[in-house]
Amino acid sequence: MRFTLNVDHVAYLRNMRGEQQPDPVAFALMAEQYGVDGIVVHLREDRRHVNERDVRLLRELVSTKLDLEMAAVDEIIEIACDVQPELATLVPEKRQELTTEGGLNVLDNISRVKKTIEKLHGADIEVSLFVEPDIDQIDASKEIDADMIEIHTGVYANAPTDAEMFDELERIRIASIHAKKIGLGVNAGHGLDYQNIKDFIVLEDIDEVSIGQAVVARSVFVGLERAIKEMLYFIRK
Ligand code: PXP
Repeated sequence: MRFTLNVDHVAYLRNMRGEQQPDPVAFALMAEQYGVDGIVVHLREDRRHVNERDVRLLRELVSTKLDLEMAAVDEIIEIACDVQPELATLVPEKRQELTTEGGLNVLDNISRVKKTIEKLHGADIEVSLFVEPDIDQIDASKEIDADMIEIHTGVYANAPTDAEMFDELERIRIASIHAKKIGLGVNAGHGLDYQNIKDFIVLEDIDEVSIGQAVVARSVFVGLERAIKEMLYFIRK
């Protein structure tokens, strides 16, 4: 299983004072040195964390893989096609939300998502769709030519009881096996941390996990190198 680091929270911290520090680009480059397999950022329409300068610099400097999370809207599609990250992950986006609240409803937005995939493919960008562990959403993703999905793990991560957590893990397991069988790559993310990753890594069909908050938060206490190496230890075990 690969581990990509989302550095949005570093940009958020920088923006709170409107200053230069901490720089999410410098953070991302250090994270690469400590062994992450890729860097993830979400360029939101309201630019609440990373901005265009960050995305363009990351494109120039990231040597592992750049995954640009984005909504399927014209302005951001245009930037993505120009910047050409290795991967674009399409997510739903609401202005009022604190963070992405759930998977993309591919079935209800089939023509918009399909057109977005076509445009991104035209710029040589692979496309992943952030979806719930739902077989119909996964089949729809394949139908409109997505290269991979990212399974939303928020329900697993926030489950109030162990029983509910393991039920959701089973849903994710079934969904990931199905996605692999029909030829999709399978990523996963949202709310994964140093505790819940331990049960998650048994899922053999997940290629990659995308983690932000837990690792950035831990790095405040123990430093970035240790925060990354601890997570890598669980993921690679
Ligand atoms: N994957 C997606 C699609 C996300 O929107 C986020 C949150 O920005 C993550 C992964 C990472 O979630 P977290 O910060 O909770 O680890």
